[in-house]
Amino acid sequence: MEKTAVIEHEIINEIKIRKSGRAYSERLVEPEKIHQLLEAARWAPSSMNEQPWRYIVAKKDDTVLYNKVFGSLAESNQSWVKNAPVLIVSLARRTFIRNGVANRHALYDTGAANSLLTIQTSALGLNAHQMGGFDYEKLKSALAISDDMEIAVVISIGYPGEIDKLPEALQKRELAPRERYIQSELIVHL
Ligand SMILES: Cc1cc2nc3c(=O)[nH]c(=O)nc-3n(C[C@H](O)[C@H](O)[C@H](O)COP(=O)(O)O)c2cc1C
Repeated sequence: MEKTAVIEHEIINEIKIRKSGRAYSERLVEPEKIHQLLEAARWAPSSMNEQPWRYIVAKKDDTVLYNKVFGSLAESNQSWVKNAPVLIVSLARRTFIRNGVANRHALYDTGAANSLLTIQTSALGLNAHQMGGFDYEKLKSALAISDDMEIAVVISIGYPGEIDKLPEALQKRELAPRERYIQSELIVHL
C-alpha cells in the first residue's frame, strides 16, 4: 500500500497545517479561544440535528478535575500530555432527547464536531491532539458520567511548544514524515 504525505490537491490552510502534535508550551489558552473551539463544534451537522456531543473542559488550574482526566490517560500519553494546559473530554449522548430512542449516529456526529473543533484550533494557532488511549471505566467513574453518555475521546489543547524539550523517542515521532494513503487507495469509484 503506497503512502505519502504530499498534498495531492490543494486544500484550505487550516486542514493542511492541522496535526496531532505532542509538544506543548505552558502558555495558557485564553478563555475566549476555548469558547471559539466549542463554538466550531456546535456548528457541526448531526443526524436529526440532535447535536449529541457534550464536552467537559478541564483546565490545568482546576487541579482536581484536570488530574481526574489526566490520571485516566495511558502512560504513553501522559508522558507528553502533562504540559497541555487544557484537556477536553468529548462525550456522545447515546439516545435522542425527544424520544429516548437509541441514536446510532451519536458517535459519528460527535466525531464530526470534534473535527470542526480541531480545524478551529489550527486557525487559532493552537494544537489539538485527540486520544483514545485512556482507561474508559476509570474516567467514567472519576467524572461520574452517566450510562447514557459514551466517552468518545480526550483532546489535549494548547499552544505548540518546542519539540526538543520532549523525550528523545517522542522527538523522533514528532519529526517523522506524516503518512497518508495516496488518494486513489481511498476512492472505491470516481
Ligand atoms: C479516535 C482517535 C484516537 C487517537 N488516540 C491517540 C492516542 O491515544 N495517543 C496518541 O498519541 N494519538 C492518538 N490519536 C492521534 C492519531 O495517532 C493521529 O491523528 C494520526 O496518527 C494522524 O496524525 P495527524 O493527526 O497528526 O495527522 C488518536 C486520533 C483519533 C482520531
